[in-house]
Amino acid sequence: MTAFELQHVCRTVPGDEGPQSLLDDVTTHFEKGLLHALVGPSGGGKTSLLRLLNRLDAPDAGTVSYAGLDLGCWEPRRLRRKVAFVPQQPHIFPGTARDNLLFGLRFHPDIAPIDNQRLSELCASSQFPPDLLSKPAEKLSIGQQQRLALARALCLDPEVLLLDEPGSALDRPTAEALGRSLRHLCRRAMTIVLVSHDLEWVRNHADRVLFMEAGKLKLQCPVASFFSYGAESRVGRFIAGQKEGPES
Ligand SMILES: Nc1ncnc2c1ncn2[C@@H]1O[C@H](COP(=O)(O)OP(=O)(O)OP(=O)(O)O)[C@@H](O)[C@H]1O
Ligand SMILES: [Mg+2]
Repeated sequence: MTAFELQHVCRTVPGDEGPQSLLDDVTTHFEKGLLHALVGPSGGGKTSLLRLLNRLDAPDAGTVSYAGLDLGCWEPRRLRRKVAFVPQQPHIFPGTARDNLLFGLRFHPDIAPIDNQRLSELCASSQFPPDLLSKPAEKLSIGQQQRLALARALCLDPEVLLLDEPGSALDRPTAEALGRSLRHLCRRAMTIVLVSHDLEWVRNHADRVLFMEAGKLKLQCPVASFFSYGAESRVGRFIAGQKEGPES
């Protein structure tokens, strides 16, 4: 079942040297219950694409729809209840980690209060250490703040998670544990679209890979196909380059 459908999506912004194309004729779809990884060189348009899916930005040509309805028809708050975006540098509010985790609930009185069992589940799903819940959130590391923001997003029980480089500040064992948690969420019908520069992580945890470069979606395929491209192809060269160190 299709969650998001994008048809010929373009987004252009004014630049110093004339209009700059951030997204150029992107057509794709994201399937319910799958983990989709957006990969590609820096500046390729990955974050720009995630932002469109949450209506933080709008396309200037083409269409984006969620659950069969054009995003322009979705009331933004209703959409964001179903589609949660966790940016690479999440906003952290004054107060404890627990205050931050529960912050969004005040806008949704229909959501049942979070009891201790649900709090433990949220910490487990986001790999946020429960012993840090009483710590001032501003004192947490970037990696801890990212996982706290993920727990905060999961509080609202969204249908889709949009994650911008969720493992970028994590050591390998923690990033792998997060990958297993995200896969578990997908098995419970969550749709995930995330950006990653860590191709080993993508290989271990993604279902589908979308390769973006210079605003264009150059390739979309199952994860195994992505990693079977030969060294002479553009994808193969990208994979080899990432092993030597991320491109900039
Ligand atoms: N609001 C904006 N105004 C002007 N240029 C922008 C804007 N947002 C993004 N860009 C430019 O669009 C291009 C794509 O940016 P984007 O953040 O989507 O790349 P990315 O693939 O996420 O890169 P990275 O892997 O480094 O995070 C970049 O050249 C960026 O400088
Ligand atoms: Mg980005």
